[in-house]
Amino acid sequence: MEHTVTTMPTARQSGCPFDPPKELIEAREHGPISRYPFPDGHQGWLVTGYDLVRSVLADPRFSSRKEFMRHHPTIDMGDFEVPPAPPGEFLLMDDPEHSRYRKPLVGKFTVRRMRLLTERVEQVTAEHLDAMEKAGPSADLVTAFAKPIPAIVICELLGVPYEDRGSFQDNIDKFLGGEVGDEELIAAYTATQQYLAELVAAKRAHPTDDVLSDLLDSDLTDEELQGMALILLSAGFDTTANMLALGTFALLQNPEQLAALRADPTLTDGAVEELMRYLTVAKMFMRTALEDVELGGRTIKAGTTVILSYNTANRDPERFTDPHTLNVRRQDGGHLAFGHGIHQCLGQQLARVEMRVAFPALLNRFPTLRLAVPAEEVALRPEAADIYGVKSLPVTWDA
Ligand code: HEM
Repeated sequence: MEHTVTTMPTARQSGCPFDPPKELIEAREHGPISRYPFPDGHQGWLVTGYDLVRSVLADPRFSSRKEFMRHHPTIDMGDFEVPPAPPGEFLLMDDPEHSRYRKPLVGKFTVRRMRLLTERVEQVTAEHLDAMEKAGPSADLVTAFAKPIPAIVICELLGVPYEDRGSFQDNIDKFLGGEVGDEELIAAYTATQQYLAELVAAKRAHPTDDVLSDLLDSDLTDEELQGMALILLSAGFDTTANMLALGTFALLQNPEQLAALRADPTLTDGAVEELMRYLTVAKMFMRTALEDVELGGRTIKAGTTVILSYNTANRDPERFTDPHTLNVRRQDGGHLAFGHGIHQCLGQQLARVEMRVAFPALLNRFPTLRLAVPAEEVALRPEAADIYGVKSLPVTWDA
């Protein structure tokens, strides 16, 4: 019998803030692919198993194009025609359009280039830990630490003045946080576009030493640069911030793992990968079949929407031993938390550098770090958010 998931879960199970919603775990237990009837009546699919998610991501017969994403997983959009992605917003494009934008950026986000940023990330992290310590012995880890560090780093890399963050940080939060209505969302998007248009114009007038200015010499138009900046800024802000806050929460809830990491710094790189797998904050993406495709013994008809659950894929017991356990010594790598295939995260080396610096620095600075509220009271982002995480993380320590 074919398994059907009837509605998308709206929340995690109480007491399990790190686990995928139970409906999705159950779906995977039935098999790696389930039927999913979308609210508008479209008969789609939900892929929850590791191998199948990975194979869809590697298959050019599945498209990321925005104009094909007509079926929203939780909202009936009726006959609403979704416009194609604006120029430069390559996350929602296929090749060759996608690679026209991605290619000029690849060389700017290599392992080598990102490692060169380590010292600056250490400095920014230390400054925030100093400020936290001074204002302590308690803090909201999200505002004091998790948000500003990646925000400053991506702003510096792109050449976006951090002082301007008032103009876009709240707006980006609005379109990724899943908590505002359509009207506010459109207003937030428009305001960000306006800001970026002015920024690109300013770079044209006075180029500086940064990724955006470097791209001025290419054949990319201002409108395209604006779209690319939007993707980089929004992807670079929110994802790492949520990993840092939710990752700290997960470590505090797993004291033996936390103790192991504190005791042995050589575990840091593996612990970061394990936190990425265990938490998979970028939890769900969609693709559309461009032609009929056989997948897991089913035929996915051309034009059908497929929801890919990255977080259940990363908890698949056929791929990971003891998948629901956070184990900083885990040896079975290969998680999908940065995606796979042509859209695999462009900023993954940057995110890694940030996490490899920030987690140990925080844990070393505050050896008695702990939650300041009961774990059940930590405010979680709703499932509707594109990126999962905590809204705030009250912590305290012995001064
Ligand atoms: C821990 C933090 C991060 C996570 C979990 C994450 C996750 C992801 C995932 C899953 C995708 C693939 C989306 C898909 O399959 O359609 C992606 C794409 C992308 N990410 Fe990240 N990301 C992170 C940090 C960053 C940072 C710091 C940047 C900054 C440059 C960035 C830039 C991008 C871009 C530009 C893409 C689109 C790539 C393309 O379409 O070719 N990400 N990210």
